[in-house]
Amino acid sequence: MSSETGFAVVGLGMGKHHCKAIHSAPNARLIAVCDVDEERLRPTAEEFGCEAYTDLADMLENDDIDVVNIATPSGSHTEIGLQVVAAGKHMIVEKPADITTARIDELIAAVDKAGIKAAGVFQSRLDPLNMEIRNAVQGGRLGRLIGVHGHLPWYRKQSYYDGPHGSWKGTWGMDGGGSLMNQGVHTVDLLQWISGRVVSVMGMFGVFGHEIEAEDQSVALLRFESGALGTLYTTTCAYPGHDQRITIYGSEGSLVKREGALESWKLLADEGGKEETDMLNRFGEKVNKSSGAADPMAVSFDGHTQIIIDMVEAVQQDREPMITLHSARHAVEIINAVFESGRSGREIRLSGK
Ligand SMILES: NC(=O)c1ccc[n+]([C@@H]2O[C@H](COP(=O)([O-])OP(=O)(O)OC[C@H]3O[C@@H](n4cnc5c(N)ncnc54)[C@H](O)[C@@H]3O)[C@@H](O)[C@H]2O)c1
Repeated sequence: MSSETGFAVVGLGMGKHHCKAIHSAPNARLIAVCDVDEERLRPTAEEFGCEAYTDLADMLENDDIDVVNIATPSGSHTEIGLQVVAAGKHMIVEKPADITTARIDELIAAVDKAGIKAAGVFQSRLDPLNMEIRNAVQGGRLGRLIGVHGHLPWYRKQSYYDGPHGSWKGTWGMDGGGSLMNQGVHTVDLLQWISGRVVSVMGMFGVFGHEIEAEDQSVALLRFESGALGTLYTTTCAYPGHDQRITIYGSEGSLVKREGALESWKLLADEGGKEETDMLNRFGEKVNKSSGAADPMAVSFDGHTQIIIDMVEAVQQDREPMITLHSARHAVEIINAVFESGRSGREIRLSGK
Protein backbone atom coordinates (compact mmCIF):
# COMPACT_ATOMS: atom_id res chain seq x y z
CA MET A 1 0.00 0.00 0.00
CA SER A 2 1.21 3.52 -0.84
CA SER A 3 2.04 5.67 2.18
CA GLU A 4 -0.56 8.16 0.92
CA THR A 5 -4.27 7.55 1.32
CA GLY A 6 -6.29 8.60 -1.72
CA PHE A 7 -9.36 10.75 -1.11
CA ALA A 8 -12.28 11.91 -3.22
CA VAL A 9 -15.00 14.41 -2.37
CA VAL A 10 -18.60 14.28 -3.58
CA GLY A 11 -20.59 17.52 -3.24
CA LEU A 12 -18.61 20.74 -3.59
CA GLY A 13 -20.28 23.30 -1.33
CA MET A 14 -18.92 22.37 2.09
CA GLY A 15 -17.00 19.72 0.15
CA LYS A 16 -14.58 22.44 -0.96
CA HIS A 17 -13.48 22.77 2.66
CA HIS A 18 -12.84 19.03 2.61
CA CYS A 19 -10.63 19.53 -0.46
CA LYS A 20 -8.57 22.16 1.41
CA ALA A 21 -8.38 19.93 4.46
CA ILE A 22 -7.20 16.92 2.43
CA HIS A 23 -4.67 19.15 0.69
CA SER A 24 -3.19 20.25 4.01
CA ALA A 25 -3.26 16.84 5.75
CA PRO A 26 -0.06 14.77 5.72
CA ASN A 27 -0.21 11.41 3.89
CA ALA A 28 -3.52 12.33 2.23
CA ARG A 29 -3.92 12.98 -1.49
CA LEU A 30 -6.97 14.39 -3.22
CA ILE A 31 -7.51 12.15 -6.24
CA ALA A 32 -10.89 13.34 -7.50
CA VAL A 33 -13.94 15.49 -6.96
CA CYS A 34 -17.52 14.86 -8.05
CA ASP A 35 -20.47 17.20 -8.43
CA VAL A 36 -23.44 17.24 -10.77
CA ASP A 37 -22.95 21.01 -11.03
CA GLU A 38 -20.20 21.60 -13.61
CA GLU A 39 -19.82 25.22 -12.52
CA ARG A 40 -18.63 24.01 -9.14
CA LEU A 41 -16.85 20.93 -10.40
CA ARG A 42 -14.45 22.30 -13.05
CA PRO A 43 -12.91 25.22 -11.09
CA THR A 44 -12.48 23.01 -8.00
CA ALA A 45 -10.77 20.23 -9.97
CA GLU A 46 -8.51 22.86 -11.56
CA GLU A 47 -7.69 24.52 -8.24
CA PHE A 48 -6.68 21.24 -6.62
CA GLY A 49 -5.22 19.58 -9.72
CA CYS A 50 -7.38 16.49 -9.42
CA GLU A 51 -9.76 14.47 -11.58
CA ALA A 52 -13.36 15.64 -12.10
CA TYR A 53 -16.47 13.47 -12.32
CA THR A 54 -20.12 14.39 -12.76
CA ASP A 55 -21.17 10.82 -12.05
CA LEU A 56 -20.44 9.17 -8.70
CA ALA A 57 -20.57 5.63 -10.14
CA ASP A 58 -17.77 6.53 -12.60
CA MET A 59 -15.67 8.03 -9.82
CA LEU A 60 -16.09 4.97 -7.63
CA GLU A 61 -14.37 2.87 -10.31
CA ASN A 62 -11.14 4.78 -9.74
CA ASP A 63 -8.81 2.40 -7.86
CA ASP A 64 -6.62 5.20 -6.50
CA ILE A 65 -9.47 6.35 -4.25
CA ASP A 66 -9.46 4.79 -0.78
CA VAL A 67 -11.84 7.20 1.00
CA VAL A 68 -14.85 9.17 -0.24
CA ASN A 69 -15.95 12.29 1.65
CA ILE A 70 -19.71 12.75 1.33
CA ALA A 71 -20.80 16.41 1.40
CA THR A 72 -24.03 16.26 -0.58
CA PRO A 73 -27.42 17.39 0.82
CA SER A 74 -28.02 15.69 4.18
CA GLY A 75 -30.95 13.53 3.07
CA SER A 76 -28.80 11.88 0.38
CA HIS A 77 -25.95 10.70 2.64
CA THR A 78 -27.14 7.11 3.15
CA GLU A 79 -28.04 6.60 -0.51
CA ILE A 80 -24.58 7.80 -1.55
CA GLY A 81 -22.90 6.05 1.37
CA LEU A 82 -24.38 2.70 0.32
CA GLN A 83 -22.82 3.14 -3.14
CA VAL A 84 -19.47 3.93 -1.53
CA VAL A 85 -19.75 0.79 0.63
CA ALA A 86 -20.60 -1.30 -2.44
CA ALA A 87 -17.42 0.00 -4.09
CA GLY A 88 -15.44 -1.16 -1.04
CA LYS A 89 -14.20 2.32 -0.15
CA HIS A 90 -14.02 4.02 3.25
CA MET A 91 -16.00 7.21 3.90
CA ILE A 92 -16.27 10.44 5.84
CA VAL A 93 -19.88 11.60 6.07
CA GLU A 94 -20.78 15.24 6.70
CA LYS A 95 -23.15 16.14 9.52
CA PRO A 96 -25.85 15.07 10.06
CA ALA A 97 -24.95 11.47 9.09
CA ASP A 98 -28.43 11.42 7.56
CA ILE A 99 -31.76 12.92 8.58
CA THR A 100 -33.34 9.84 10.24
CA THR A 101 -31.90 7.25 12.62
CA ALA A 102 -33.46 4.47 10.48
CA ARG A 103 -31.29 5.51 7.54
CA ILE A 104 -28.20 5.97 9.69
CA ASP A 105 -28.76 2.46 11.07
CA GLU A 106 -29.01 1.12 7.51
CA LEU A 107 -25.68 2.74 6.65
CA ILE A 108 -24.01 1.55 9.87
CA ALA A 109 -25.16 -2.03 9.17
CA ALA A 110 -23.75 -1.91 5.63
CA VAL A 111 -20.47 -0.39 6.83
CA ASP A 112 -20.07 -3.01 9.56
CA LYS A 113 -20.87 -5.88 7.18
CA ALA A 114 -18.33 -4.65 4.62
CA GLY A 115 -15.69 -4.00 7.30
CA ILE A 116 -14.87 -0.54 6.01
CA LYS A 117 -14.13 2.64 8.00
CA ALA A 118 -16.78 5.34 8.26
CA ALA A 119 -16.43 8.61 10.16
CA GLY A 120 -18.96 11.33 10.97
CA VAL A 121 -18.12 15.04 10.91
CA PHE A 122 -18.66 16.76 14.25
CA GLN A 123 -15.55 18.92 14.15
CA SER A 124 -16.59 20.83 17.31
CA ARG A 125 -15.67 17.71 19.31
CA LEU A 126 -12.03 18.32 18.31
CA ASP A 127 -11.98 21.89 19.64
CA PRO A 128 -9.54 21.86 22.61
CA LEU A 129 -11.89 24.00 24.75
CA ASN A 130 -14.80 21.61 24.16
CA MET A 131 -12.51 18.72 25.12
CA GLU A 132 -11.55 20.51 28.38
CA ILE A 133 -15.23 21.13 29.17
CA ARG A 134 -16.11 17.50 28.50
CA ASN A 135 -13.23 16.26 30.65
CA ALA A 136 -14.31 18.54 33.52
CA VAL A 137 -17.96 17.43 33.32
CA GLN A 138 -17.23 13.73 32.85
CA GLY A 139 -14.53 13.81 35.50
CA GLY A 140 -17.16 14.99 38.01
CA ARG A 141 -15.46 18.35 38.59
CA LEU A 142 -18.80 20.20 38.45
CA GLY A 143 -20.30 17.82 41.02
CA ARG A 144 -23.78 16.55 40.22
CA LEU A 145 -24.91 17.82 36.82
CA ILE A 146 -27.96 20.09 37.11
CA GLY A 147 -28.49 22.15 33.93
CA VAL A 148 -27.19 21.85 30.36
CA HIS A 149 -28.14 24.61 27.93
CA GLY A 150 -27.37 25.28 24.28
CA HIS A 151 -28.54 28.36 22.39
CA LEU A 152 -27.89 29.13 18.74
CA PRO A 153 -29.47 32.45 17.68
CA TRP A 154 -28.11 32.60 14.15
CA TYR A 155 -29.25 34.47 11.06
CA ARG A 156 -29.62 33.37 7.46
CA LYS A 157 -30.96 35.61 4.71
CA GLN A 158 -33.81 34.30 2.55
CA SER A 159 -31.26 34.08 -0.29
CA TYR A 160 -29.52 31.26 1.64
CA TYR A 161 -32.66 29.17 1.02
CA ASP A 162 -33.40 30.57 -2.48
CA GLY A 163 -29.97 30.38 -4.13
CA PRO A 164 -28.95 27.78 -6.73
CA HIS A 165 -27.96 25.34 -3.98
CA GLY A 166 -30.54 26.51 -1.45
CA SER A 167 -33.66 24.67 -2.52
CA TRP A 168 -33.02 21.59 -0.33
CA LYS A 169 -32.29 23.71 2.76
CA GLY A 170 -35.13 24.08 5.23
CA THR A 171 -37.04 21.15 3.68
CA TRP A 172 -38.19 18.05 5.54
CA GLY A 173 -37.26 15.68 2.71
CA MET A 174 -33.60 16.67 2.22
CA ASP A 175 -32.57 18.82 5.23
CA GLY A 176 -34.69 16.91 7.76
CA GLY A 177 -35.67 20.27 9.31
CA GLY A 178 -34.09 23.70 9.29
CA SER A 179 -32.35 25.67 12.03
CA LEU A 180 -32.26 22.63 14.33
CA MET A 181 -31.18 19.84 11.96
CA ASN A 182 -28.92 21.91 9.70
CA GLN A 183 -27.34 24.59 11.88
CA GLY A 184 -28.23 23.27 15.35
CA VAL A 185 -27.00 19.68 15.02
CA HIS A 186 -23.46 20.64 16.16
CA THR A 187 -24.87 22.24 19.34
CA VAL A 188 -27.11 19.23 20.03
CA ASP A 189 -24.18 16.88 19.51
CA LEU A 190 -21.93 18.91 21.82
CA LEU A 191 -24.53 18.90 24.61
CA GLN A 192 -24.87 15.11 24.50
CA TRP A 193 -21.14 14.51 23.93
CA ILE A 194 -20.25 16.67 26.94
CA SER A 195 -23.10 15.75 29.26
CA GLY A 196 -24.26 12.26 28.30
CA ARG A 197 -27.34 10.81 26.69
CA VAL A 198 -30.70 12.53 26.52
CA VAL A 199 -33.57 10.30 27.62
CA SER A 200 -36.59 12.48 26.91
CA VAL A 201 -37.52 15.61 25.00
CA MET A 202 -40.32 18.16 24.72
CA GLY A 203 -40.21 20.62 21.85
CA MET A 204 -41.87 23.28 19.77
CA PHE A 205 -40.88 24.65 16.39
CA GLY A 206 -42.17 26.69 13.48
CA VAL A 207 -41.42 28.94 10.55
CA PHE A 208 -41.09 32.57 11.61
CA GLY A 209 -38.91 34.58 9.26
CA HIS A 210 -38.39 32.78 5.96
CA GLU A 211 -40.32 31.21 3.14
CA ILE A 212 -39.32 27.62 3.89
CA GLU A 213 -41.15 24.39 4.56
CA ALA A 214 -39.65 23.01 7.78
CA GLU A 215 -38.60 25.36 10.61
CA ASP A 216 -36.42 28.36 11.33
CA GLN A 217 -36.94 28.41 15.10
CA SER A 218 -37.05 25.60 17.65
CA VAL A 219 -37.12 25.35 21.44
CA ALA A 220 -36.81 22.19 23.49
CA LEU A 221 -36.61 20.87 27.01
CA LEU A 222 -34.19 18.01 27.54
CA ARG A 223 -33.92 15.43 30.30
CA PHE A 224 -30.49 13.81 30.52
CA GLU A 225 -29.71 10.28 31.69
CA SER A 226 -27.70 11.87 34.52
CA GLY A 227 -30.90 13.51 35.79
CA ALA A 228 -29.89 16.99 34.62
CA LEU A 229 -32.43 19.14 32.78
CA GLY A 230 -31.59 21.25 29.75
CA THR A 231 -32.84 23.70 27.19
CA LEU A 232 -32.11 24.00 23.53
CA TYR A 233 -32.80 26.99 21.29
CA THR A 234 -32.04 27.33 17.59
CA THR A 235 -33.03 29.87 14.99
CA THR A 236 -31.88 31.34 11.70
CA CYS A 237 -34.06 34.45 12.27
CA ALA A 238 -31.99 36.36 14.85
CA TYR A 239 -30.72 39.33 12.83
CA PRO A 240 -27.79 39.93 12.45
CA GLY A 241 -26.74 36.57 13.96
CA HIS A 242 -25.55 36.13 17.55
CA ASP A 243 -23.04 33.77 19.10
CA GLN A 244 -23.72 30.18 20.10
CA ARG A 245 -23.92 29.91 23.91
CA ILE A 246 -23.39 26.79 25.97
CA THR A 247 -23.86 26.86 29.75
CA ILE A 248 -23.42 23.93 32.10
CA TYR A 249 -24.35 24.06 35.79
CA GLY A 250 -23.43 21.49 38.41
CA SER A 251 -23.70 21.30 42.19
CA GLU A 252 -20.02 22.30 42.47
CA GLY A 253 -19.41 24.57 39.55
CA SER A 254 -20.54 26.11 36.29
CA LEU A 255 -19.03 26.71 32.87
CA VAL A 256 -20.09 29.24 30.25
CA LYS A 257 -18.91 29.32 26.67
CA ARG A 258 -19.74 31.80 23.91
CA GLU A 259 -18.97 30.67 20.34
CA GLY A 260 -15.32 29.53 20.38
CA ALA A 261 -14.41 31.37 23.59
CA LEU A 262 -14.65 30.53 27.28
CA GLU A 263 -16.61 33.12 29.25
CA SER A 264 -16.47 31.65 32.73
CA TRP A 265 -14.95 28.62 34.47
CA LYS A 266 -16.14 28.55 38.07
CA LEU A 267 -15.35 25.52 40.20
CA LEU A 268 -15.84 25.32 43.97
CA ALA A 269 -12.54 23.46 44.14
CA ASP A 270 -10.73 26.33 42.38
CA GLU A 271 -10.23 28.46 45.48
CA GLY A 272 -8.65 31.78 44.53
CA GLY A 273 -9.64 31.29 40.88
CA LYS A 274 -6.16 30.36 39.58
CA GLU A 275 -7.54 27.64 37.35
CA GLU A 276 -10.15 30.01 35.92
CA THR A 277 -7.46 32.60 35.15
CA ASP A 278 -5.36 29.96 33.39
CA MET A 279 -8.35 28.71 31.41
CA LEU A 280 -9.38 32.25 30.40
CA ASN A 281 -5.81 32.96 29.30
CA ARG A 282 -5.90 29.87 27.10
CA PHE A 283 -9.48 29.99 25.84
CA GLY A 284 -10.94 33.47 26.59
CA GLU A 285 -12.32 35.83 23.97
CA LYS A 286 -10.23 35.52 20.84
CA VAL A 287 -9.76 38.45 18.53
CA ASN A 288 -9.94 36.49 15.30
CA LYS A 289 -12.45 33.80 16.06
CA SER A 290 -14.53 32.80 13.05
CA SER A 291 -18.26 32.38 13.54
CA GLY A 292 -21.03 30.84 11.49
CA ALA A 293 -23.54 33.19 13.17
CA ALA A 294 -24.20 35.04 9.93
CA ASP A 295 -21.91 33.37 7.40
CA PRO A 296 -22.60 29.69 6.55
CA MET A 297 -19.07 29.18 5.20
CA ALA A 298 -17.21 30.71 8.17
CA VAL A 299 -16.47 27.35 9.70
CA SER A 300 -12.90 26.51 10.47
CA PHE A 301 -11.56 23.71 8.26
CA ASP A 302 -8.94 22.84 10.84
CA GLY A 303 -11.35 20.40 12.48
CA HIS A 304 -11.91 18.84 9.09
CA THR A 305 -8.14 18.47 8.64
CA GLN A 306 -7.96 16.56 11.91
CA ILE A 307 -10.79 14.31 10.76
CA ILE A 308 -8.87 13.60 7.52
CA ILE A 309 -5.65 12.87 9.44
CA ASP A 310 -7.59 10.55 11.75
CA MET A 311 -9.08 8.69 8.77
CA VAL A 312 -5.63 8.24 7.20
CA GLU A 313 -4.44 6.67 10.46
CA ALA A 314 -7.62 4.61 10.89
CA VAL A 315 -7.13 3.11 7.42
CA GLN A 316 -3.39 2.56 7.79
CA GLN A 317 -3.61 1.15 11.34
CA ASP A 318 -6.89 -0.69 10.77
CA ARG A 319 -8.67 0.96 13.70
CA GLU A 320 -11.98 2.78 14.20
CA PRO A 321 -12.06 6.52 13.41
CA MET A 322 -12.50 8.97 16.36
CA ILE A 323 -16.04 9.95 15.42
CA THR A 324 -17.89 6.81 14.40
CA LEU A 325 -21.22 6.92 12.59
CA HIS A 326 -22.72 5.24 15.61
CA SER A 327 -21.63 8.09 17.86
CA ALA A 328 -23.00 10.61 15.34
CA ARG A 329 -26.47 9.04 15.58
CA HIS A 330 -27.79 10.34 18.92
CA ALA A 331 -27.91 14.02 17.84
CA VAL A 332 -30.25 13.07 14.99
CA GLU A 333 -32.37 11.01 17.38
CA ILE A 334 -32.72 13.98 19.76
CA ILE A 335 -33.60 16.39 16.95
CA ASN A 336 -36.29 14.15 15.48
CA ALA A 337 -37.75 13.72 18.97
CA VAL A 338 -38.05 17.53 19.25
CA PHE A 339 -40.02 17.54 16.00
CA GLU A 340 -42.18 14.59 17.07
CA SER A 341 -42.93 16.34 20.36
CA GLY A 342 -43.73 19.60 18.59
CA ARG A 343 -46.20 17.81 16.34
CA SER A 344 -47.85 15.70 19.02
CA GLY A 345 -47.60 17.95 22.06
CA ARG A 346 -46.20 14.98 24.02
CA GLU A 347 -42.95 14.32 25.85
CA ILE A 348 -40.93 11.88 23.70
CA ARG A 349 -38.79 9.21 25.32
CA LEU A 350 -35.68 8.12 23.44
CA SER A 351 -34.84 4.51 22.75
CA GLY A 352 -31.46 4.38 24.52
CA LYS A 353 -29.92 2.52 21.55
N1 LIG B 1 -19.47 20.42 9.20
C1 LIG B 1 -20.00 21.61 8.98
O1 LIG B 1 -19.79 22.54 9.75
C2 LIG B 1 -20.88 21.81 7.78
C3 LIG B 1 -21.09 23.11 7.27
C4 LIG B 1 -21.92 23.25 6.15
C5 LIG B 1 -22.54 22.15 5.57
N2 LIG B 1 -22.33 20.90 6.11
C6 LIG B 1 -23.00 19.72 5.54
O2 LIG B 1 -22.48 19.47 4.24
C7 LIG B 1 -23.51 18.92 3.40
C8 LIG B 1 -23.64 19.80 2.16
O3 LIG B 1 -24.07 21.08 2.56
P1 LIG B 1 -23.76 22.36 1.62
O4 LIG B 1 -24.19 23.55 2.42
O5 LIG B 1 -22.39 22.31 1.11
O6 LIG B 1 -24.80 22.10 0.43
P2 LIG B 1 -24.70 22.59 -1.07
O7 LIG B 1 -26.05 22.38 -1.66
O8 LIG B 1 -24.07 23.92 -1.16
O9 LIG B 1 -23.67 21.54 -1.75
C9 LIG B 1 -24.05 20.23 -2.04
C10 LIG B 1 -23.44 19.86 -3.40
O10 LIG B 1 -23.72 18.49 -3.68
C11 LIG B 1 -23.95 18.37 -5.08
N3 LIG B 1 -24.70 17.13 -5.31
C12 LIG B 1 -25.95 16.82 -4.88
N4 LIG B 1 -26.27 15.55 -5.22
C13 LIG B 1 -25.18 15.04 -5.87
C14 LIG B 1 -24.90 13.77 -6.46
N5 LIG B 1 -25.80 12.78 -6.43
N6 LIG B 1 -23.70 13.60 -7.03
C15 LIG B 1 -22.78 14.60 -7.04
N7 LIG B 1 -23.01 15.83 -6.51
C16 LIG B 1 -24.19 16.04 -5.92
C17 LIG B 1 -24.72 19.64 -5.43
O11 LIG B 1 -24.66 19.94 -6.82
C18 LIG B 1 -23.99 20.68 -4.57
O12 LIG B 1 -22.94 21.32 -5.27
C19 LIG B 1 -24.78 18.90 4.24
O13 LIG B 1 -24.97 17.61 4.78
C20 LIG B 1 -24.50 19.91 5.34
O14 LIG B 1 -25.21 19.63 6.54
C21 LIG B 1 -21.50 20.73 7.17
